[in-house]
Amino acid sequence: DPVGRPIMHRSAISQATGEAVYCDDIPKTDGELFMTVVTSARAHAKITSLDVSEALRLPGVVDVITAKDIPGKNVRTEFGYDEELLAESQVSCVGQMICAVVADTRVHAKRGAAAVKISYEDLPDPVFTAEVKDAKSSFFEPRRVIWRGNVTEAFKTVDQLHEGEIRLAGQEHFYMETQSMLVIPVGEETEFKVYASSQWPTLTQEAIAETLNIPSNRVTCHVKRIGGGFGGKVTKTPLLASVTAVAAQKTSRPVRFVLERGDDMLITGARHPVLGRYKVGFMKDGRIVAADIQYYSNAGHTIDESLMIVEKILLHMDNAYNIPNLHGRGAACRTNLPSNTSFRGFGVPQGIMIMENMINDVAVLLGRPADEIREINMYKGPSVTHYKMEFSPENMLRCWNECKVKSDFSNRRKAVDQFNQQNRWKKRGMAILPIKYGIAFAEGQFNQGGALVHIYKDGSVLVTHGGTEMGQGIHTKIQQVASRELHIPTSKIYISETSTNTVPNTCPTAASFGTDANGMAVKNACMTLYQRLEPIRQKDPKGSWESWIDAAYFEKISLSATGYHGYDPDQSNLYMDWDKMEGQPYAYFTYGTCCCEVELDCLTGDYRTVRTDLMVDIGRSVNPSVDIGQIEGAFMQGLGLYTLEELKFSPFGLLYTRGPSQYKIPAVCDTPLRFNVYLLPDSDNPHAIYSSKGIGEPIVFLGSSVFFAIKDAVAAARSDSGLVGPFSLDSPATPERACLACSSPFTKK
Ligand code: MTE
Ligand code: MOS
Repeated sequence: DPVGRPIMHRSAISQATGEAVYCDDIPKTDGELFMTVVTSARAHAKITSLDVSEALRLPGVVDVITAKDIPGKNVRTEFGYDEELLAESQVSCVGQMICAVVADTRVHAKRGAAAVKISYEDLPDPVFTAEVKDAKSSFFEPRRVIWRGNVTEAFKTVDQLHEGEIRLAGQEHFYMETQSMLVIPVGEETEFKVYASSQWPTLTQEAIAETLNIPSNRVTCHVKRIGGGFGGKVTKTPLLASVTAVAAQKTSRPVRFVLERGDDMLITGARHPVLGRYKVGFMKDGRIVAADIQYYSNAGHTIDESLMIVEKILLHMDNAYNIPNLHGRGAACRTNLPSNTSFRGFGVPQGIMIMENMINDVAVLLGRPADEIREINMYKGPSVTHYKMEFSPENMLRCWNECKVKSDFSNRRKAVDQFNQQNRWKKRGMAILPIKYGIAFAEGQFNQGGALVHIYKDGSVLVTHGGTEMGQGIHTKIQQVASRELHIPTSKIYISETSTNTVPNTCPTAASFGTDANGMAVKNACMTLYQRLEPIRQKDPKGSWESWIDAAYFEKISLSATGYHGYDPDQSNLYMDWDKMEGQPYAYFTYGTCCCEVELDCLTGDYRTVRTDLMVDIGRSVNPSVDIGQIEGAFMQGLGLYTLEELKFSPFGLLYTRGPSQYKIPAVCDTPLRFNVYLLPDSDNPHAIYSSKGIGEPIVFLGSSVFFAIKDAVAAARSDSGLVGPFSLDSPATPERACLACSSPFTKK
């Protein structure tokens, strides 16, 4: 039985050697054209003229596609807001797509795009930040609120009140494979074959059908693998693919669209920057009695998934803490920046930071270690969240305690303090943080999985399911599932691709829910097939798999089955009712704790992560080596988010950082010198396949333990200069920020 074994990712070798095939590796087809887009140079303006005549005269240029060429809808509508595929009369950010040039080669398409002339008439007052706003038009509605208890009353009863704020920058997805797609018109009737690097093949199919004004049954979308998605290929790819499809339809030729890194960074948005403001009331003994937190997320110029992200921020605002009076308000702010989108953790990595920063302030004000204040306020025993969902924090607390033991926390804490007494310009810092992360979609309908399993006459098995492989190892895990259920080795099982003509109406592979949903669907399909073979096995109990399949074929037993996973009476329908402020938005929680130690050079701000210990509860992992890879990868992506990566814009809203030389993602040298990952033993989870837990996203947040360790080191440096009390440090804590914070006398409230 391969389930629970550390089987290597099925594409590990081919990805390492470069043999693995990605979208742009598909060989050029006959008559194929290459597409490039022309994007807005202004953040907020009217388009007064669009002149493509010169572009059309250039060698190799075949056509220019504008909004007028779109036969169906030029908009995607989300939550009542329209997003134009190609801007028609007005632009609302730099990098917004206006038209597309198709040519025989990539170089010709680029030259064509450069020759398109656009004039603008600027409109007043573009906005770029999510600072507090009053005008209704500056938000995407609805804004969300959630509370329990009564903060106003509770604030009157506490020993101490404190207010603070923290700004968190966004983050570029920086998937290794940029957005890529190939649309091929086929057949004498209108029909399109689409190959795309997409986390949501179904939305890609639907968006193309809507744009071309044809039924969905004329469009098939195929995804072999994605060279990293991280949430950036859920809603953006369908938009880009729709424009590509218009070009393919208009020219009746295959069209390939592969973004260059700079264009991808410019056009496709990033993680939402968030501004958090808090007021907290607490007692001398460390108990936090009341907290009021406001979240302003910078959505960019269209709504995209911003509303869902604000909701997920609010649902996770409590993190591990049982604060009796808790009030959260969240808003998606409309700005003139490219539209931000989902990114691993879906707002949670930003949201929880605000709570944790607040707790840090409380610890500083009380003159006590932050881990003590965290412990005092944690959920204990049977608990209820602020949205009235019952849960047991037992494994969360076990992770916390085990992490303290494994990291030798108290001894090392003493050693750090001693080091800091003996050194003036080098300081060490330590931090330990917990996470409680809800798995599944609060939007109940997205919790569906589908599968189609064929057994061929030679006994080989082809599995297709609704999930896409983006490096997270879903296909490896699914093969393990099929292997267990069919009682055959994984070598007889193959997954070729994800496609809308094999498994229809799929959900996005997101919310760390891919294996939970599709694993169950594959399990169901395989169980159906195995039961069909039962009479054959009984007749010939000593036979081989191959002989049974052969016999089944001759007895006319269908060797193909679908599987589906949707309503589960155990999980009932997951939902969130925002009017009542209650729900059951998650199937269960994944827990973890991370302890980090850093050494900071106070004169330069340079730092090194000396040691990281992670204790994570993922139930009984289907594949521990793949899951540990997810934990390590998410931690490093979080480390980048909180300490390195910074998108920089010009005062006019143009993204400056459009490549790896300007935008620094974590490298090998940034990994902790000692990096220990432990899986919590003896954990069960009745709510997911084989008692496992989703782990794709949660650990991104724990990268913030590096941030708080830096903050701890900075505090030690400040106290040498007589600077005490809470101080502000925004994220990312880049060397510049850390260095300035060491000596900045200002203690922002
Ligand atoms: N791991 C790799 N290697 N590449 C990715 O793009 N995306 C993450 C995570 N891990 C990603 C990844 C995100 S954002 C999610 S939601 C989950 O994988 C999705 O996959 P799962 O549901 O199968 O865990
Ligand atoms: Mo992941 S952000 O849910 O694709």
